[in-house]
Amino acid sequence: MIIIDKSDFVGKGNHREVYKHPNDPQLCLKVNISSDLTTREKREQLREKSYYNLLQKKGVNFTMLPAYHGDLETSLGMASVFDLISDTDGSTSRTLGYYLQSEELTQQNYEGLLSSLSQLKNYLLSQKIIVRGLAHRNIVCQRNETGIFRLAIVDNIGNSEFIPISNYIDFLAERKIHKKWKRFEKRQLEEFTENSALRKIFDALS
Ligand SMILES: Nc1ncnc2c1ncn2[C@@H]1O[C@H](COP(=O)(O)OP(=O)(O)O)[C@@H](O)[C@H]1O
Ligand SMILES: [Mg+2]
Repeated sequence: MIIIDKSDFVGKGNHREVYKHPNDPQLCLKVNISSDLTTREKREQLREKSYYNLLQKKGVNFTMLPAYHGDLETSLGMASVFDLISDTDGSTSRTLGYYLQSEELTQQNYEGLLSSLSQLKNYLLSQKIIVRGLAHRNIVCQRNETGIFRLAIVDNIGNSEFIPISNYIDFLAERKIHKKWKRFEKRQLEEFTENSALRKIFDALS
């Protein structure tokens, strides 16, 4: 069993806490905050796993999506193992929200954000990766010495359709990704209304 050290804490969402893997700096462990999940949460987590399996079978590249490496037992319960997204200096990459909550930070990272948001959209479209929803809390920004160079989606991928036909028909997948992306832009502009650098980025993207 893996013993999780609380000082290896990376981040927390509504359902899970994320820690660095104690024996592998490339990996992180996601554990559920609550030990009794609702039926809906269980279903969502199973769906996430099966979607990852599907992507692996399809042979997509995992450059902007951390690969999933199965589950293991830890001192905090069962954990799902994923690639940990880090900056080239070794620190854990920060979320997109961190860069968007301050116009100054967005402005400082303007070029990096513009090109990596554009790359992310093209990546989803070319690999036909369907997201249930795109949110700034679930996207992290990788930095090198010059700035942000790549984004990665760490949560909420998969298809919420009752019959997930878009997984198998490319033009339906593309249509869905375009729709989710539009909604994502709209939400960010609503949440960060004061951030005119962000508006400029989305204008330049379209
Ligand atoms: N693979 C990862 N690499 C780096 N940071 C991550 C990774 N996965 C999650 N995080 C961080 O942990 C936070 C919570 O993880 P997330 O998977 O979104 O949990 P939840 O399912 O509860 O929303 C994220 O907002 C992000 O800051
Ligand atoms: Mg999340």
